[in-house]
Amino acid sequence: MLKPQLIPKTPFFHKISIQKTANLSKTHLIFHAPLLIFSYLCSHFQIIQNNSTMLSTNDVGLQYGKRVLFDEVNLKFTKGNCYGVIGANGAGKSTFLKILSGEIDPNNGSVDMEPGNRMAVLSQNHFAFEEDAVLNTVMMGHKKMYDIMIEKDAIYMNPDATEKEGMRAADLENEYGEMGGWEAESDAATLLSNLGVSEDLHQKLMKELTGGQKVKVLIAQALFGDPDILLLDEPTNDLDATTITWLSDFLAGFKNTVIVVSHDRYFLDMVCTHTVDIDFNRIKIYTGNYTFWYESSQLMASQMANKNKKTEVKRKEMMEFIQRFSANASKSKQATSRKKALDKLNLEDIKPSTRKYPFIHFQADREPGDQILKVTNLSKRKEDGEILFSNVDFTMNRGEKISLVGKDSAAINAFFDVLSGEKEADSGTIEFGQTITHDYLPNENTAFFANKNDLELIDWLRQFSDEKDEQFIRGFLGRMLFSGEEVYKKSSVLSGGEKVRCMLSKIMLKHPNFLLLDEPTNHLDLESITALNNAMTEFKGNMIFTSHDFKLTDSVANRVIEITPNGIIDSLMSYTDYVKSDNVKEQRAKLLLSVNA
Ligand SMILES: Nc1ncnc2c1ncn2[C@@H]1O[C@H](COP(=O)(O)OP(=O)(O)OP(=O)(O)O)[C@@H](O)[C@H]1O
Ligand SMILES: [Mg+2]
Repeated sequence: MLKPQLIPKTPFFHKISIQKTANLSKTHLIFHAPLLIFSYLCSHFQIIQNNSTMLSTNDVGLQYGKRVLFDEVNLKFTKGNCYGVIGANGAGKSTFLKILSGEIDPNNGSVDMEPGNRMAVLSQNHFAFEEDAVLNTVMMGHKKMYDIMIEKDAIYMNPDATEKEGMRAADLENEYGEMGGWEAESDAATLLSNLGVSEDLHQKLMKELTGGQKVKVLIAQALFGDPDILLLDEPTNDLDATTITWLSDFLAGFKNTVIVVSHDRYFLDMVCTHTVDIDFNRIKIYTGNYTFWYESSQLMASQMANKNKKTEVKRKEMMEFIQRFSANASKSKQATSRKKALDKLNLEDIKPSTRKYPFIHFQADREPGDQILKVTNLSKRKEDGEILFSNVDFTMNRGEKISLVGKDSAAINAFFDVLSGEKEADSGTIEFGQTITHDYLPNENTAFFANKNDLELIDWLRQFSDEKDEQFIRGFLGRMLFSGEEVYKKSSVLSGGEKVRCMLSKIMLKHPNFLLLDEPTNHLDLESITALNNAMTEFKGNMIFTSHDFKLTDSVANRVIEITPNGIIDSLMSYTDYVKSDNVKEQRAKLLLSVNA
């Protein structure tokens, strides 16, 4: 497996080279098992570790109205570790990251960063720079330098600039040079190329890039400031499996401190040395990856549920659990320490999780007739002429649930936009049957929550409901896990997962018999993904969806359509069968040949 490694070049710039390394996931788990157990126990007994602290929080607390997100947060983040931040949708993960980065102030307490350290952030919103050019987006990573560049360029571009402004431009030019600004563009270009974003993309607008390419540019932006601490909020959204593996390898090779929010268990297990759990209005750090945290907390929950069990029996189970995890332990020194810690173990410290399942159910208002959907010769190109999809031809039958797949996520986004009527195709036709009512969950939902229609949640949802009664809407929101005062919060402040829960509510209220879902699991926590997966399986109508979640795709789809620039591969089979099919591989090779011919 390939692992990118960072080598410092200038004070604000890292260069990436590629080197060989062992398979991470397995090695990671086996190698770290003893460490995980030891440190899990340490986290309960506050055994102090000696690593140098990069960042610490002192009595941090935040509440919105009556709702306390977290309180009395006292944490230390040490050099070289990778912290995975977990918690339910709306628990406060993004908010906590914003407090760490100084974007918002806590109500109580403070955050201390070691003097001289730099921090960079990749935010949960991957669509924030859509109208900016790729290279500029990277340079924005060094904000001060970028602002100077914009100001001096504006003066140069102004034919009526005064002498005073001319002097100002000269000063700015000096400052810019001292910061290394003259090399900035070529540095940014090299960084992008090293991250695999080819030169032909550097002058394109961000909106023209695929999800995976965008994340790479945003990572380049974060690295451009040469951070000692890298904060990443759900970086794997919009990424395909290959790019997720790339990112895991990249983070594993990153020498400085990483704090990353994610709902992706596989990813967390690959990259994290520590788990930061937000629950019960508290934030706690446990050493170890997600699986270790999960197994431990499950065990604790089951032991607590069984109140009659004697402490002695619980201790025995805990010992067995630790032995199971440390089967491969080789470091006897750590094993001895673990035993000491175990002697003092107080199981009552750990509470079962408060995570909940929303009620998701899609109920069609009418049975579909025999005509469902006929797509004929559909084609679309990008603004620069590159083909997104061409000659797409298929007829959909009753009961079919199609998974759309393909290498180019921009092509899939565009295909959904065309099917839903949001955008026009260049050629071809789409005919939905007379009885078909369709609704669409777009990948990008910012427009629905933009500040200009900043309604309270209850009024936001009322817009989409035939039944306007307060009790009804409140009941509906309650089942989607918004209760009490929460129904009065502004729609613009909702967390990523809460926005998706609202978009799903909007669809549920419309009762369509045909669903178009573009990456519906993005931003959702595991409980919501499970609820959504069940709802999609149980839905009686038709559906076209795309998801990077293998389990969901495999349990829902009974037909798979792969989009290529040169036509489609249409397979009436489950996703697992499609992945294994030799016939599909042959068709793909033929299509590739005809593209290259
Ligand atoms: N200005 C605000 N006023 C009221 N509530 C707010 C405000 N800002 C955020 N919230 C609420 O705080 C909670 C935490 O939001 P945050 O975005 O940190 O959640 P999260 O853990 O990142 O969730 P997700 O996994 O969905 O991204 C949410 O319920 C959100 O609606
Ligand atoms: Mg968030």
